[in-house]
Amino acid sequence: MEPELKHGPGLDKSANPLVKEAGWHLIDGHAELDAKVLELGRTLNVPLPSEANADQRGWIAEMTNAPAGSAEFDRIFANRLHAAHGGVYKFLAVVRTGTRNTLIRDFAKRCMEVVLDHIQVLEATGMVDFNDTEAIPLAAVAAAPASPRRFPLCPRPCRTFPELRTSLSRTRATAPMHCSDSS
Ligand SMILES: [Fe+2]
Repeated sequence: MEPELKHGPGLDKSANPLVKEAGWHLIDGHAELDAKVLELGRTLNVPLPSEANADQRGWIAEMTNAPAGSAEFDRIFANRLHAAHGGVYKFLAVVRTGTRNTLIRDFAKRCMEVVLDHIQVLEATGMVDFNDTEAIPLAAVAAAPASPRRFPLCPRPCRTFPELRTSLSRTRATAPMHCSDSS
């Protein structure tokens, strides 16, 4: 483990042992997935983001501004990360069930295991507010289409990751994909 990861979110700033435990799970899981996604990016020749997005920067700022050892910090940590992991988990389910790329399918499966573990340890802190309908977008879940859309990770009708279309076209001959698309 990289030295800086030993001082990750929730470990230094929280006084709550359950939050610290959740922090360790996040560090371990994300270290594993980061290594895997970097390897996949190289294999599939897909550029990956190297900086936090605007939402993530906002959550970090909230946690940074909360007093160390405070319940406020623990609530922000648990609720922001719980909501973020919930969104990722739904996205992973779509990718896991819709892709024909065997590398992505295997990766999505492992991601789902890790993300569910993170959701569970965050819930185990007792700090997640399940009445927060902004963090738990029930309306979005209810509006989900009954029949699954096709999200093939292959060169032609790639809608989930349009940036993969070109790169997969270049790597198709070598990448172990199952792209039997005829559309
Ligand atoms: Fe996570």
